[in-house]
Amino acid sequence: MKVLGIMGSPRVKGNTDLLLDEALRGAKSRQAEVEKLVVDKMKITPCREYYGCLRDGNCVIRDDMDIIYPQLVEADGIIVASPMFFYGVTAQLKALIDRCQALWARKYVLKTLPDSKKKGVFIGVGATKGKQLFDGSILTIKYFFQAFGVEYSDELLVRGVDKRGEIKEHPDMLAEAFELGERLAQYIG
Ligand SMILES: Cc1cc2nc3c(=O)[nH]c(=O)nc-3n(C[C@H](O)[C@H](O)[C@H](O)COP(=O)(O)O)c2cc1C
Repeated sequence: MKVLGIMGSPRVKGNTDLLLDEALRGAKSRQAEVEKLVVDKMKITPCREYYGCLRDGNCVIRDDMDIIYPQLVEADGIIVASPMFFYGVTAQLKALIDRCQALWARKYVLKTLPDSKKKGVFIGVGATKGKQLFDGSILTIKYFFQAFGVEYSDELLVRGVDKRGEIKEHPDMLAEAFELGERLAQYIG
């Protein structure tokens, strides 16, 4: 039972990072094997539309996505966590997502990606409190998951946190993140 956490914020020990750590701790407490990917620390070139992936499911760009594709394919559960940057996910995370066109090609064009029971959850964090704060990101994450057969199963959306580590003033939210991780482990267990 493998759970992969994808940390979309450039701010290490920031709000997203702390929430994701709690979610991964929750998953681990339910016997999941957890791994965390900090996208800002990785070299991920944005998609260049070379479309090599349509031929054989592989991207022609050589960078850290070489390590990430197998992690995505092998994970049973995925937690994507991102702060809201202009009502969307961060550019670093979006670059990873766009490069998953290669997985989309495997699944829907070449049909080489086997059906799976993968489950995915989303943690979103934003400073403001608007009703639509997460709408765009949720659509992006849903379609990202769909690209390689992951069911969007749950979410934790945290409004009104801004400063680095401010989430520590909201232990209830950190507890909810832990519970989200526990639930994910149950969905895939
Ligand atoms: C470039 C940038 C754009 C942002 N855009 C939004 C936004 O559209 N809506 C919002 O509520 N917060 C926005 N924020 C605030 C962050 O989402 C907020 O500070 C969040 O807590 C940061 O999480 P982190 O500590 O995990 O990086 C923005 C912050 C930055 C740096």
